[in-house]
Amino acid sequence: MNDLEMYREQLAICDDKIIDALAERNSVVEKIMAYKEQYGMPILQPAQEQKQERRLNEKLKDNKYRDEILDVFSRILRNSKKIQARKLFSYNIVLIGFMGAGKSTVSDYLSTMFDMRLVEMDQEISDREEMSIPDIFATYGEEYFRKKETELLKELQNEKNCIISCGGGAALREENVVEMKKNGRVVLLTASPETIYDRVKDSNDRPILNGNNNVEFIAEMMEKRREKYEAAADIVVQTDNKTILQICEELISRLMELDNR
Ligand code: S3P
Repeated sequence: MNDLEMYREQLAICDDKIIDALAERNSVVEKIMAYKEQYGMPILQPAQEQKQERRLNEKLKDNKYRDEILDVFSRILRNSKKIQARKLFSYNIVLIGFMGAGKSTVSDYLSTMFDMRLVEMDQEISDREEMSIPDIFATYGEEYFRKKETELLKELQNEKNCIISCGGGAALREENVVEMKKNGRVVLLTASPETIYDRVKDSNDRPILNGNNNVEFIAEMMEKRREKYEAAADIVVQTDNKTILQICEELISRLMELDNR
């Protein structure tokens, strides 16, 4: 055997070791998940993730292949998250609620923590139409926008394990709710009118609030929409005075309860 052949054999042995280590690692990830579930522990533990990252950086600090190895680890960690997400959610998570209830923030955080695909409906519609939401309203009217919402929701029913952040009006239509529920669990995020006002007061991209951006108008509109939002929801998570981590933990444990019932 010449040297080249020998090196190739050594490489194959390394690959086998990597495969075995990865398979073992993934099964440990599943054990950790099961343990957290069994003992009702928080699923999201960002502090632990940071600790793991520090450990890796420390271990690799003088390694010649530091950057390359860290690159591989970032994929490994993303895949661990995917394994967790697939185990926890075999469906889409559909976030609904009033403007400023926290749908975008929560969906963003969840999609990062579980490496799940995120569809921000307003963004998607705006990208496809190559226009901002206020411009779509001004040019084609609200009805046109609502039609686009329904079309997109129908299309998204081919997805699984994806986070769908709906525009505030999406859950008001019966046919949209039917679509949301086909393949997803619907999570209603709520907040007081005061909190909502605080979150949206500087925003210019909410045509529904145009010229009426005040607590009274918001409270009145929320009340008008409340019944429909609640009817659509599988679970409700109240977001006032909570951190993003608290909100997401509550959301996850409530979804888990729903499945274990
Ligand atoms: C709307 C909410 C907006 C956007 C559109 C209409 C509504 O989404 O879809 O301006 O009717 O409540 P956000 O809830 O993301 O602001």
